[in-house]
Amino acid sequence: MSSIKFYYGDSVPLEMHKARIVQKLNLVPVDYRLKAIAIAGNNTFLLKNRDVFMDMLTDSGVNAMSDQQLAAMMIADDSYAGSETFTKLENKIEEIFGKKYFLPAHQGRACENIISQVLVKPGSIVPMNYHFTTSKSHIVLNGGSVEEILIDEGLKVNSEHPFKGNTDIEKLKKSIEKHGAEKIAFVRLEAGTNLIGGQPFSLENMREVSEVCKQFGIILVLDASLLADNLYFIKVREDQCKDLSIREITREISDLPDVIYFSGRKLGCARGGGICTNDREMCLKIRELIPLYEGFLTYGGMSVREIEAMTVGLEETMDENMINQGPLFIAYMTEELQKKGVPVVTPPGGLGCHLNAMEFLSHVPQNRYPAGALAAAVYIASGVRGMERGTMSEQRDENGVEPLSNMELLRLAMPRRVFTLSQVKYAVDRIAWLYENRELVGGLTFIEEPKILRFFFGRLAPISDWQNRLVAKFKSDFADSL
Ligand SMILES: Cc1ncc(COP(=O)(O)O)c(C=O)c1O
Repeated sequence: MSSIKFYYGDSVPLEMHKARIVQKLNLVPVDYRLKAIAIAGNNTFLLKNRDVFMDMLTDSGVNAMSDQQLAAMMIADDSYAGSETFTKLENKIEEIFGKKYFLPAHQGRACENIISQVLVKPGSIVPMNYHFTTSKSHIVLNGGSVEEILIDEGLKVNSEHPFKGNTDIEKLKKSIEKHGAEKIAFVRLEAGTNLIGGQPFSLENMREVSEVCKQFGIILVLDASLLADNLYFIKVREDQCKDLSIREITREISDLPDVIYFSGRKLGCARGGGICTNDREMCLKIRELIPLYEGFLTYGGMSVREIEAMTVGLEETMDENMINQGPLFIAYMTEELQKKGVPVVTPPGGLGCHLNAMEFLSHVPQNRYPAGALAAAVYIASGVRGMERGTMSEQRDENGVEPLSNMELLRLAMPRRVFTLSQVKYAVDRIAWLYENRELVGGLTFIEEPKILRFFFGRLAPISDWQNRLVAKFKSDFADSL
């Protein structure tokens, strides 16, 4: 795709694949959507998928699979112990990441549970470029705490910085100086930082982090769940890497950390996860917990069919024309929204297009959850389901105080190779309409608030009857259109 030029008009992302299996979609009428979001407690996680037109909640486990992956699933070796299927994945991990030991787990957070149990003690500190919900929760459950050491530019919603996921090396050194290296359980680097708009780190920055960790004898852990997008951005945005292949960049990255873990629901377009390392002692400590939480060492809670698909998917991730599809569609959507004045995170990252709810709904205070309210409003206006990534996704501290999030984002995930350009245009149209009518949208309040990861199951109610007024305006503007 990168080498394809258009003769007439604007260039658009060109799919380097074709669809051969399709799934029928429903676009239910606006009155129905109003009822559905109320039944779901204004939480898009609680919507039924049959009531959703474009499911942009997540890229997790919902990426399109290739014909090669589906074919591989038919020949899986379904044995509890010593499965040949597992050996293939183990070999692929060693080939791609150069790590000898591979420990399977059923998904990314299972890896986080195990790594935290092995490395975090009460009072431990874990510095990281930026936290992810489940990674932070597991560290906190084990008595540790997270310290964010992202570059300041990373928290600017709009910036020219190509690598907003970079670590601030001075902040890292200060954290080590303040707590002492022995208190630092590990440094965690997240590729394609999820909560700040899928923003990548550069290879150069990762090298610097690794040098500091080596200097102080601190373990470096890479969360590679969103590595595919990050690899693409390194290839196209980092000058020193433009002549390297994706495989070479992967190896440059994977040689730096002591431990790599990933959600296979994202990386490799299958469903599962795993941890890899060259450190035998670390492997042995982690190994003890795998049968306890995940399953025997040659499946780790994954179906062998998914393991086959993951092996093929990881190999396919080494193809630039495969990993560029998400970022190119995201860039298209982000730029089209920008043209219509809709506030979005820039530069466009991986994972999804991110609306800046703090600006979109500047009249809704953070304790009324602007990003959550925007998620509900976008669903009502379009049947598109996004995910709140703001204050609702934070957790109250031990005194019950609710931390306000640095950013209030509505993430519209772009599952890889799933949507067509016309569907993306539909979403842009409805969101632009909503932006013109933004003053109609009000806030939300919790009516049921779980203590841990409240954004998953929490139920909220609208403050005032703003949703009815929004539907009335929709009907007057769109008449009998869905
Ligand atoms: C960066 C990152 N780490 C870890 C996870 C957890 O992975 P899983 O959903 O497979 O448990 C996710 C999932 O969204 C993620 O984005």
